[in-house]
Amino acid sequence: MADSPFDLTGRRALVTGSTRGIGAAIATGLAQAGATVVLHGRDFGRVEEACVALRSEVAGAEVRGCAFDVGDPEAVVSGARGLVAELGGIDVLVNNAGIQFRSPLTEFPLDAWQQVVSVNLTSCFVLGQELARGMLERGHGKIINVCSLQTQLVRPTTSAYAAAKAALASLTRTMCAEWAAGGIQANGLAPGYIGTDLNATLVADEEFSAWVEARTPARRWGLPSDLAGPAVWLASAASDFVNGQIIYVDGGITAVL
Ligand SMILES: NC(=O)c1ccc[n+]([C@@H]2O[C@H](COP(=O)([O-])OP(=O)(O)OC[C@H]3O[C@@H](n4cnc5c(N)ncnc54)[C@H](OP(=O)(O)O)[C@@H]3O)[C@@H](O)[C@H]2O)c1
Repeated sequence: MADSPFDLTGRRALVTGSTRGIGAAIATGLAQAGATVVLHGRDFGRVEEACVALRSEVAGAEVRGCAFDVGDPEAVVSGARGLVAELGGIDVLVNNAGIQFRSPLTEFPLDAWQQVVSVNLTSCFVLGQELARGMLERGHGKIINVCSLQTQLVRPTTSAYAAAKAALASLTRTMCAEWAAGGIQANGLAPGYIGTDLNATLVADEEFSAWVEARTPARRWGLPSDLAGPAVWLASAASDFVNGQIIYVDGGITAVL
């Protein structure tokens, strides 16, 4: 791996929301590529369990853990500063933590709207701003903002989520516009329908699940591990001239009517 453009040895990566689901799979991929990985979630006990699991999955992996609520900007800033003090900096930021809330638009509660926007969008701005400063000083950094199919296509009842994920694509392009000359590559990784806790009710709904399989050219739900390879690519030197892009990892669903 040492001569590979995908090698992440010596890189320090923070993956938010990596106690399970897509974040855990991305963290595994980054650890397999040699990065020191910081696992993260709201609850330190769950983070520690995820650290134990990752260490046993990837022999020799350098794994740390930290806990803060990405919906709380002050906690985000102090969490980020604590990590920088501990590790000397973060080279790869994966803004992955996200939540969903479904409601018809006419009844969508304002507090739920604000919470979804705060966790899925504002957190990426706050954490990106905080960690980009060190990346710019060092002259290199990778930011991967986990977007969604709903960055581009929407369905009823997910207005706040779709709005936040669409705005995250614009924030990603702005990061590119302002930070590319300083050595940062900021890209979006947009999963299609992936079987995780986030959409457990959809997975369990046989009719919806059949619709997903029929609508997706690959004819299946995605797996969290489907995101690992693309994340390693975006975190590595192999993608150094890729910037401000949204990469859809969706079995082809956004390509086909
Ligand atoms: N699954 C899909 O089909 C799909 C499709 C498109 C995009 N995405 C996006 O992919 C990302 C990951 O989704 P997923 O399906 O893997 O979700 P998931 O299985 O529900 O996992 C969410 C992760 O985020 C953490 N988290 C949630 N709220 C948090 C908060 N306020 N502060 C800190 N951590 C928080 C959770 O940790 P704790 O609960 O331990 O705190 C958990 O590790 C999200 O951005 C989501 O929007 C998912």
